[in-house]
Amino acid sequence: MFENINEGLLDFLEKSPTAFHAVSNIRAVLHASGYTELSESQKWELRRGGRYFTVRNESSVIAFRIPQEDYTHFMIAAAHSDSPSFKIKANPEVKAGPYVKLNVEKYGGMLIAPWFDRPLSVAGRLIVRDENGGLTTRLVNVDRDLLMLPSLAIHMDREANSGHAFNVQNEVMPLFGDETSAGHFMEIVAQAAGVKKEAILGDDLFLYARGRGTVFGADHEYLSAGHLDDLQCVYAALQGFIASGDSTEKGCRTAQGTLPVLAVFDNEEVGSGTKQGADSTFLEDVLRRINEVLGGGTEQLLRAVSSSFMVSADNAHAIHPNYPSKADPVNRPVMNRGIVIKYNANQKYTTDAVSAALFKMFCRRADVPFQEFTNRSDMAGGSTLGNISNAHVSLNTVDVGLPQLAMHSPYEAAGVKDTAYLARVLLVIFRSGLSGGAPGSYRL
Ligand code: CO
Repeated sequence: MFENINEGLLDFLEKSPTAFHAVSNIRAVLHASGYTELSESQKWELRRGGRYFTVRNESSVIAFRIPQEDYTHFMIAAAHSDSPSFKIKANPEVKAGPYVKLNVEKYGGMLIAPWFDRPLSVAGRLIVRDENGGLTTRLVNVDRDLLMLPSLAIHMDREANSGHAFNVQNEVMPLFGDETSAGHFMEIVAQAAGVKKEAILGDDLFLYARGRGTVFGADHEYLSAGHLDDLQCVYAALQGFIASGDSTEKGCRTAQGTLPVLAVFDNEEVGSGTKQGADSTFLEDVLRRINEVLGGGTEQLLRAVSSSFMVSADNAHAIHPNYPSKADPVNRPVMNRGIVIKYNANQKYTTDAVSAALFKMFCRRADVPFQEFTNRSDMAGGSTLGNISNAHVSLNTVDVGLPQLAMHSPYEAAGVKDTAYLARVLLVIFRSGLSGGAPGSYRL
C-alpha cells in the first residue's frame, strides 16, 4: 500500500509553493474523493456516512467523515501547511543604482544562506475586486525563474566561510531586474493571475525556491525538495485519511463510532496564533459544530473528546552525517527507519507515557517501524502545534514526525520509505477506536 506515494508527494510539493496552494491542492483531492465542501458561514447539514471538509482563510483545512452509527470519538491527525519563507512587503520595488531589488521580510525561522544563488519565484494569494464590486481570492504563482539573491564573491569577503550574520534588510533583497526593465512587479503578478493590476486590493505573496524535488542516494533512498516540513506529513496524512474511507483498502476494519478528522493548520512557523492556526478555535469550532448538527449535547461531546486520540505530525530531525554530536546520545532518528515519536520533558511535545504507548500499539497494528527523539539535554530544540492545539481541544495527543535533514532550508532532505509509513499508521488510526475504561486504562 502507498508504494508510489513519493511520486505523488513530489508532484504535490511542486504544486504547493505556499500554504494557499497546498490547501487548494488538498481541496482538489478531497473533491475528487467524494468529499463535500462546507462553508463556515453557511448552515451545515450532515448525514450519516457523509464526507465533508471546511477551509478557513484558504490556508487551513479540516476534513472529516460521519460514521453510519452514533459517533463516540474522534481520531485526529494534524499537520501544518506553511513553511518558512520571505514575504513580499508592500510596495516592494527598491531602486539601487542600476538595479531594482525587492523588499522582503522573514516569515518564520529559516536557514537564510541556502536561499542564495538559486532561481527564486513568487506565489501566494491576491484579493481582487470583481466586476460586481465584490472581492474574490485568486491564487497566483509566477511560475518562472524571476529572482535571485546573489552571494557576495569570496574575493570581496575573505571571511565569508567563517560564519556570517545576515542583516535581512540590507542583504536579503532579491535582484528583480535592471532599472531600465519594462516589467513592474505587481504587473507581472497580475498577469500571472490573469487579473488587472488595478483590481488587486490585497496580497499575501511569498518567495519560493524553484525546481522540482529529486530522489538521490546510492540506492535512491533519499528525496530532497522544499517544504518537506511539513508538507511531507500533510501529504502522508491526506493519503492515509482518504484511504481509510475507502472500503477496498486493506488495513484494520473501522471501529464502531469512529469519526476521523484530518486537520491542516497554517502559521505553525510563526507560533500558530492566527484565526486559522492551531492556536485558534478552528478545530474546536468544527468538532462542536459536528456534535451539535448531529444532535449531540455537551455531555456527548465531552465524552467523545475524552475517548479521542490525536497525532500531531510535524517533521523531526534525523541524525546529521556531519554533526552527529548535535543529537541526543541515544535517541538518534535515522531516515527510512520509521516514524519518530518526539518527547520533551517540558511538554513542548505532547507525547507522554499514555500517548506514546497508544501510538506504538497503532504502529504494531499497521506493521510500521517507529523510533524515538529527544533533544540533547543542553539544547532547547523546536516546538510544534500539538501542545498549542491541546489548549483548545484537550485529548490524548502524540507528537510525531518523519526524520529529515536541513530543516527550514528551502531544500530539505528525507527518506523515501517514511512517507508511506506515516500514511499506513494513520490509515489504521483513522479506523480505530479508543475507549477509556477504569481511570488509567485504555482499550483500542
Ligand atoms: Co514543522
